[in-house]
Amino acid sequence: MRPWDAELYDAHHSFVASYGSGLLALLDAQPGERVLDAGCGTGEHVAELRARGVDAVGVDASPEMVQRARERFPDAGLFVADLRDGDAIPAPAGYDAVLSNAVLHWIPEAERAAATLFAALRPGGRLVAELGGSGNIAAIDTQARRLRADLDLSGPASPWYFPSVAGYARVLEDSGFEVTGAWLFDRPTRLEGEDGLSTWIRMFAGHLLAEAADTEAFLSELSRRLRPLLYRDGAWWADYRRLRVTAVRPSGL
Ligand code: BEZ
Repeated sequence: MRPWDAELYDAHHSFVASYGSGLLALLDAQPGERVLDAGCGTGEHVAELRARGVDAVGVDASPEMVQRARERFPDAGLFVADLRDGDAIPAPAGYDAVLSNAVLHWIPEAERAAATLFAALRPGGRLVAELGGSGNIAAIDTQARRLRADLDLSGPASPWYFPSVAGYARVLEDSGFEVTGAWLFDRPTRLEGEDGLSTWIRMFAGHLLAEAADTEAFLSELSRRLRPLLYRDGAWWADYRRLRVTAVRPSGL
């Protein structure tokens, strides 16, 4: 996993947490419930849940993110833990619910992450998760790869995992979950500023810039190619597609 610039993330990509507010509604956590935010980023959702009396803790694989989250919310339980490692989660089998927003698409080892989420829950506990789904940022990825090919640059391996509804349901079921809902939907996401697309690529998609002799020229040409597809109403819009799932750890397991 790559190191994150937590301040840049907070300054320009706060939409990640704000779009997650619909997930919190779906989670419907009650005061006193124990909730794990799996991939808590800079801690927004943990703080919001705690403010509602929920016993929420957060884990994130990025020490930079956890440090920033602790600075912002010193009283919250926030820990560095990689979702590929079930043993790293505090209080296994202790959570009434697990929430995960915009992190599972960074873990190609989906089976290991699903096993960790399952093991974190008490029997009968529920999972509410959202990640990039199949077709996510297809325009950005396709055009960047075409430009790389035009420049005789290699096609870099993708760090992302964008599953279909059926594919991800199978991963969850193979881990023991009962899937109770799944939705795949477009969520065009406004990127701040005239250079919003370039800022997004630098922050999240450095592999698409690898070995480019002139990064600025690459981003400028990519922006020119993507403008007809992703620039409208005076702003850049990333072509996000979300996969939202709900599942339970059956009572008997
Ligand atoms: C996403 O939230 O869909 C996403 C974010 C960064 C890179 C790729 C996808």
